[in-house]
Amino acid sequence: MATLTGQTAIITGASAGIGEAMARTFAAVGATVVITARRQERLDALKHEIEQSGGRALAIAGDINDASFRQTLIAETMKVTRRIDALINNAGYGQRGPIEMVPLDSIRQNFETNLFSVIGLTQLVIPVMRAQQSGRIVNISSVAGKIARPLSSIYDATKHALEAISDGLRGELAPFGIKVVVIEPGFILTEFLGVANKIAKPIIEQNSPYQPLFEGAGAGFQRLRKMAGTPDDIAQLALLAVTAAHPKARYAAPKHAKLAIALKRWLPEKLYEAILNKQSGVSHKKLKQS
Ligand SMILES: NC(=O)c1ccc[n+]([C@@H]2O[C@H](COP(=O)([O-])OP(=O)(O)OC[C@H]3O[C@@H](n4cnc5c(N)ncnc54)[C@H](OP(=O)(O)O)[C@@H]3O)[C@@H](O)[C@H]2O)c1
Repeated sequence: MATLTGQTAIITGASAGIGEAMARTFAAVGATVVITARRQERLDALKHEIEQSGGRALAIAGDINDASFRQTLIAETMKVTRRIDALINNAGYGQRGPIEMVPLDSIRQNFETNLFSVIGLTQLVIPVMRAQQSGRIVNISSVAGKIARPLSSIYDATKHALEAISDGLRGELAPFGIKVVVIEPGFILTEFLGVANKIAKPIIEQNSPYQPLFEGAGAGFQRLRKMAGTPDDIAQLALLAVTAAHPKARYAAPKHAKLAIALKRWLPEKLYEAILNKQSGVSHKKLKQS
């Protein structure tokens, strides 16, 4: 059985969904988990639960977009644990909406959280891991790191960029004994869709020519729900990413994610787009009629 006894793992976005599941999973196999997100009370409750089960957790609340918070997070962690064996860059959200309508500042904000804050935190952790001559950096990307869809391409672009940064880092850090792994979840039942809908609400509710596209996409998500995975599916992959002697460059789950990525690789582009648009509820015919 996998063990992380004596190891420290920082997990961002641990107040909900996938991050919360990863914190429980890692703590259950002996890691000291450093859990972070903005919602202090959620982190405190999770820390309490982990400690009640005999695990070790450090809860440090703050906004990952804030550079001085990132400094504090690493300084506080090092004060207590003196090492960082794994950094799981998981905090993130999706900005939805047609490119024409989403304010540029909102697009920048999505890149700030999903990409620049990941890079910023990673830059602080690399020297620690280099001094240890070991460490794992696990970046939670998405199927959206491989495919881009109408109404979702801003989020998709943040994850495409994260994939590229991760691939570059893997080569840069291998000589120092640091391994970089990408995880590509498909649709997972968490707070993610609710947060995305809330953020996009002012755009969706505007009277716009994109209304039929939004309606189709909403129905597409409902269909996808039946195939959805659980946060635990991804937590198990993250555990594999930090414990396997020779982890793969990337892992995907559940099955629909693997299938979507494989089809993207092998099908002609136009055919793939047609299938994806149908699944996502996007109909060009409807749009022309509006
Ligand atoms: N669910 C899916 O279908 C799916 C699919 C593919 C990839 N993913 C990726 O998986 C990761 C986790 O998503 P999830 O599904 O677990 O979503 P979730 O339930 O909404 O959780 C997102 C986490 O990120 C944290 N977060 C967001 N913005 C933050 C900020 N500025 N500073 C600090 N923490 C922040 C949230 O905490 P606070 O609000 O408390 O700050 C929360 O803990 C994301 O990177 C997402 O892109 C999800």
